[in-house]
Amino acid sequence: MSMVDLRSRLPALAPSILDADFACLADAVRLLEAHGADFIHLDVMDGRFVPNISFGLPVVSAVRRLTRLPLDVHLMIVEPERYVEAFIEAGATIVTVHAEVSPHLHRTVQLIHEHGARAGVALNPATPLALIEEILPFVDVVLVMTVNPGFGGQTLIPSVLQKVRRLRARIDEQRLPAVIEIDGGIKPSNVGAGIAAGADVLVTGSAVFHADDPAAVLHALRTEAQRAWLAHRSGSSDGD
Ligand code: DX5
Ligand code: ZN
Repeated sequence: MSMVDLRSRLPALAPSILDADFACLADAVRLLEAHGADFIHLDVMDGRFVPNISFGLPVVSAVRRLTRLPLDVHLMIVEPERYVEAFIEAGATIVTVHAEVSPHLHRTVQLIHEHGARAGVALNPATPLALIEEILPFVDVVLVMTVNPGFGGQTLIPSVLQKVRRLRARIDEQRLPAVIEIDGGIKPSNVGAGIAAGADVLVTGSAVFHADDPAAVLHALRTEAQRAWLAHRSGSSDGD
């Protein structure tokens, strides 16, 4: 399986199904696919790394059967290295683990790549970039949490956008392959600030699934992301 090309899709929308109606998950995935999602973001939570339990391998497999879109699996679990192979087997295209619970991060990134998926590393709002300094050249995605992980529907923490700016500068000056994904509290009114700070991929959950018209929100996110990309990032890689 060739690894998905992340850079050709930027700026990319990666809607999270965490706040979708799980009684109608197929409808939710089809809506995302029909209205411009580039990835499907799946938030796996174990009730230990975060104070919430969401879903696991069966849901990833089910979503894999529903769509051809790349599956962006965000593991908010302890000991993620024990499960990366199973999530790739279930259909994950990108597997993102939290640096805070990955003492052997280089080995875990190698493991993800060995099994044909793209490797992401996630940072909680209070976690400094220094924690991923050594692994940065080897990852495909840096997932910068713009809320404290565990729940949808929270408010973006503005100070984290400074961390995104610093990460953007580091990736650009070292010409590294990693894309920056921001996750939490993203909506049409702040997606431009996220792109301007340097984000490439935008995760959004409740803004879409709590809306009266989710399709309209997806289109608003796309329009705003494109506007901001043209205004601030037009020299970046080939985002359309
Ligand atoms: C939170 C998850 C996020 C969240 C995004 O722990 O990682 O992906 O579901 O949802 P909103 O957009 O509602 O913050
Ligand atoms: Zn997430």
